[in-house]
Amino acid sequence: MTPNLPSSATLPALGLGTFPFSGVFTSLDQQVAGEILSTYVENGGWYVETAPVYAPNGISLEQLVKSVGREKLFIATKCVTGRDASGTTVRSGKGDHLRQQCHDELKRLGVDHLDLLQLHTVPEDADAQESFGTLQGLKDEGLVRNVGLSNVSLSQLQEFAAVGPVDFVQNRFSFIYRAQHREIEDFCLANGTLLNPYQVIERGLLTDSPRETFRDGDLRNSKYEYRGDVYAYIRSWVLSDLRPIAEAHGISVTQLALGWALYQPAVGVVPVGATSTEQVRANMRASAGPLPAGVVAEMEWAFERLEGAVRDRVGLSLDEYRGL
Ligand SMILES: NC(=O)c1ccc[n+]([C@@H]2O[C@H](COP(=O)([O-])OP(=O)(O)OC[C@H]3O[C@@H](n4cnc5c(N)ncnc54)[C@H](OP(=O)(O)O)[C@@H]3O)[C@@H](O)[C@H]2O)c1
Repeated sequence: MTPNLPSSATLPALGLGTFPFSGVFTSLDQQVAGEILSTYVENGGWYVETAPVYAPNGISLEQLVKSVGREKLFIATKCVTGRDASGTTVRSGKGDHLRQQCHDELKRLGVDHLDLLQLHTVPEDADAQESFGTLQGLKDEGLVRNVGLSNVSLSQLQEFAAVGPVDFVQNRFSFIYRAQHREIEDFCLANGTLLNPYQVIERGLLTDSPRETFRDGDLRNSKYEYRGDVYAYIRSWVLSDLRPIAEAHGISVTQLALGWALYQPAVGVVPVGATSTEQVRANMRASAGPLPAGVVAEMEWAFERLEGAVRDRVGLSLDEYRGL
């Protein structure tokens, strides 16, 4: 089983995540979103990811898709979580809900098929046969080219894979957040499933100039890991321990973060969000190739120092300290 990819696609690839188009981080409008997408495509990008639950923020993805050309894009979206007519969040794994969301996404994006549809999470009312069977049915009908799962454990992945092939799995994963990865990676390698992990640059933290503070209304202010002492401590480690490694090798911190994740076995695409064309260019440059083994070794020592320092300081694992 191999995912159904464009014939020109080379893997691993940097994808464009459009969660920031919702205005959840730095504000942006239709024009900036259009410039971000066209810069990404002009620089060789092809994978664009969205979800029905992302706030529209006055931005029409349909227009953006039309402006760059549908045929140039691999469009990935999700189902399970969405909003009803009153704006209330709904979450369901029932077949009729998932089928309706697929049709709503086709309409919202102005396309006749989706390249990837993933269950955003496994909700309480999910049933592997009904939920994933519905996605397999949509694939058989040609409305969807690939199907997948997101935010899953190994046991959930195994249960759903018994219903039909899982083309993609998307869990949160980065150089400093490795939960769930190895066990899922082994499954993916054995079954021809590609990983498309999210938050690989930790929303800007694993870059050359991580923001010191966030504007009022920025979603990061509401997340424990981006607040107070916890964020300041990890940010200072990025600047004192990670940045010198990048500088010594004439590359960027973003390249360390992206190079480390993109070239892990089983990773196919890494969707990264951006709020400016400069970020897109920097991220494309930073995805150029695998990191030399010596650089990875230096990064791993820096990571071990961080884990050790956090344990000495507060007696917690790094994930616990960050509230993850
Ligand atoms: N399946 C799921 O549950 C799930 C959950 C979350 C995300 N996702 C997907 O994964 C994608 C990526 O996650 P994400 O967008 O939340 O976070 P991310 O990719 O880790 O970070 C994106 C943010 O990092 C900053 N940034 C990007 N490039 C930069 C650079 N070169 N230098 C400095 N800062 C830079 C920008 O923030 P500012 O400029 O605003 O500071 C941008 O909004 C999403 O867009 C979405 O498609 C999926």
